[in-house]
Amino acid sequence: MADTDNIKDGKDFGIGVPPAKQAFFLKGMDHADWGLKDRMARIFNKTSGNTVMLAFDHGYIMGPTSGLERIDLSIVPLIPYADCLMCTRGALRAMVPPDSGKPVCLRSSAGSTILTELNDECILDIQDILRVNASAAAVMVSIGGKFEALTIRNLTTMCDLGYRYGVPVMGVTAVGKEMTRDARYFSMASRVCAENGASIVKTYFCEGFEKVAACCPVPIVIAGGKKVPEAEALEFAYQAIQSGANGVDMGRNVFQSDAPAAMIQAIRAVVHQGAKPKDAFDLFNTLKNQK
Ligand code: 5RP
Repeated sequence: MADTDNIKDGKDFGIGVPPAKQAFFLKGMDHADWGLKDRMARIFNKTSGNTVMLAFDHGYIMGPTSGLERIDLSIVPLIPYADCLMCTRGALRAMVPPDSGKPVCLRSSAGSTILTELNDECILDIQDILRVNASAAAVMVSIGGKFEALTIRNLTTMCDLGYRYGVPVMGVTAVGKEMTRDARYFSMASRVCAENGASIVKTYFCEGFEKVAACCPVPIVIAGGKKVPEAEALEFAYQAIQSGANGVDMGRNVFQSDAPAAMIQAIRAVVHQGAKPKDAFDLFNTLKNQK
């Protein structure tokens, strides 16, 4: 048989030969398109499968909250330690150096502030999300809240646009004062986000978190919530990772710490190396006391 016969048959090109089964390194992504996987792989570390997102989008509902008065001074020095930056387009354009080389999870819904009723939101234009080369779009979803239907609609619309252009959407589960912050609630909120198309879910750590993570078919990252002592934050971050979270999307527990750079590095040890809380806290203290 001549060499060209093989080519004609398509054998050289593997036509008709089933491709080797290669699972993508993140759960729920095997059947996603190339662009979406590429963006996910920028956010999540391929070795640990996890991410440390630095959240500093709080100003969109809170204004210049403590620690975020001067993003150029408080956040920009932390950028080298983050795997991904979660922020608004305003902060991004005004204060984040475009040559930072970090993927961005862009806050892509907005509408009301803490002065009125939260979660009455609309979504950003996908063209602007693409213009800033975001690696993901974050949309608030308020399960069980007054704006549940509106925020789920926002999520599904953004997921439609995200699938069209290969941009993963992160469903951010809002917690209203009236919600019980337990595994039952967070399992439901996370699952609703995933079922409606979110490729990442951001939620909160709670007792029984294994159930929340196991019932969510896509990666979960946990928010830090209000500032607590560093040892406590490292403890719940550790518990979350050990229970199946694929990382953190942490803000106040980093930028409101006495030593933010030390804290984010201690969090990295927990998220990427599985450091025990005590070892991570020792690392925090060592780094904090270094000049
Ligand atoms: C604000 C947010 C924050 O990004 C999120 O809550 C994470 O920050 P923190 O760790 O401070 O809770 O979504 O709406």
